Amino acid sequence: MVDVTPMNKQCDCIVIFGASGDLSYRKLLPSFYDLFGLAQLPNNFVILGVGRTEYSNESFRKSLVNSLKEHSRLKHECVDEFLSHVHYLALNTSDMDDYIKLKTWLDELRNSRDTDFGTLFYLATPPSLFSLIPECLAKHGLNKQKDGIKRLVIEKPLGRDLQSAIDLDATLHTYFEEKHIFRIDHYLGKETVQNLLVFRFANGLFEPLWNRNFIDSVEITSAESLGVEGRGAYYDHSGALRDMFQNHLLQVLAMMAMEPPVTIKADAIRDEVAKLLESLKPLTQKNLEHDLVLGQYTDSIVRGKSYDAYRDEKDVDPASRTETYAALKLSIQNSRWNGVPFYVRTGKRLPTRVTEVVINFKQTPHPFFGSNTSNNKLIIRIQPDEGIVIKFGLKKTGAGFDTEEVSMDFRYADFGEMIITSAYERLLLDAVKGDATLFARSDAVQACWQFVEPILNYQQNEHSLYGYAAGTWGPKEAEDLLARDGREWRFPCKNLTDTHFCEL
Ligand code: BG6
Repeated sequence: MVDVTPMNKQCDCIVIFGASGDLSYRKLLPSFYDLFGLAQLPNNFVILGVGRTEYSNESFRKSLVNSLKEHSRLKHECVDEFLSHVHYLALNTSDMDDYIKLKTWLDELRNSRDTDFGTLFYLATPPSLFSLIPECLAKHGLNKQKDGIKRLVIEKPLGRDLQSAIDLDATLHTYFEEKHIFRIDHYLGKETVQNLLVFRFANGLFEPLWNRNFIDSVEITSAESLGVEGRGAYYDHSGALRDMFQNHLLQVLAMMAMEPPVTIKADAIRDEVAKLLESLKPLTQKNLEHDLVLGQYTDSIVRGKSYDAYRDEKDVDPASRTETYAALKLSIQNSRWNGVPFYVRTGKRLPTRVTEVVINFKQTPHPFFGSNTSNNKLIIRIQPDEGIVIKFGLKKTGAGFDTEEVSMDFRYADFGEMIITSAYERLLLDAVKGDATLFARSDAVQACWQFVEPILNYQQNEHSLYGYAAGTWGPKEAEDLLARDGREWRFPCKNLTDTHFCEL
């Protein structure tokens, strides 16, 4: 999918701000290590960790050894070789003058090389620095493209609401052009999310069915069995809507529902994603009252193990009204999807970790076999046990014409081991190469905020927040959301094809 344009110069130099933080240790450096082990990084690459913590090159490298071994996907044996490319620079990221050290470091690197090199600035920092770091880089001319390409990579939260997202973009665009800004939504890095496009547009069997004439409804579920895992301080100011819904779930929805792009070039795909997100039907007060269910987990005992209520988690306000669960019925205003309800839900402390898209097909026009007519379903499992299942009706053997539901499935595991690259590996490599296809563009991010804005406003006033016991599928009201329409959620198991016996 590489968009081969002259802009796509590789970045040999990767500067990670917030290098001594959790994201860097658990995701970024282990992913770069995996890419290195697979010989995917440019030969001459260097990684410069930047942060307030005082490390020397040696002590930083030493501090990384365990996390590279623990968090890398492919257990290579090249830690020392990889670490010889890794350096560290202690710098006060809030102090504009201190960036002279970074300039000097990069100038020295440039002087030691015969050719220009591209630089990728990765902001693995608290969001309060997202505007300041680009400004400081610009102050020292480090955003200038003349002596090698400069790219900026940032990750959510990209604002807290529409206005703050617009403000953030305005600041970023003061110092970097949009084509040089790579916004990570790690769901877009998932192989199975990308496959939505291939599955839809490369198969003559499915492409003609993908519209309101054949599809009755769509469910998108992203469930987690974990709670907030020590991230209470962040999560209590975020909640499921900002943490999962506004970004990951809407991006999955866009990939599932967008129109075919004209080509598979980055902007053609991103144009269609933005168009789809702009077609989401704005939520009215009536929708919010009827079609939105927000919940928060309460304490419970699951298989003998007790779980705290959300309000008892560390760094969470004991009177918190932050939602750990959200379910919404939404619609898309275009000719492909008019009249098709999309039911989208996400939550923490649900029975199992699973993300999937379920396409419910319309029934046959004439109910020939009475109530035995099958509800055809296509289940696209994003994670875990990645794969696809089609459910359809079959005649029961023997007398009469009774039907029973059977399924056909494909599972990525059948390809053999390690076939699925991690989302970060894919996205980091694409950013290094300059392929923006899987990165969220400014207009798409703003369209997502625009859509959730009425929910955020509604939340600020007194809204219903339902309790659900940890380890259950969320508030009962979320079941009513579908029951009212004569439908029900699929309750997925950990294993894609389990139905009768469900392993959680
Ligand atoms: C992150 C959220 O963006 O995505 C987390 O901040 C969430 O709260 C995580 O747990 C889920 O990602 P994944 O890839 O495990 O589904």
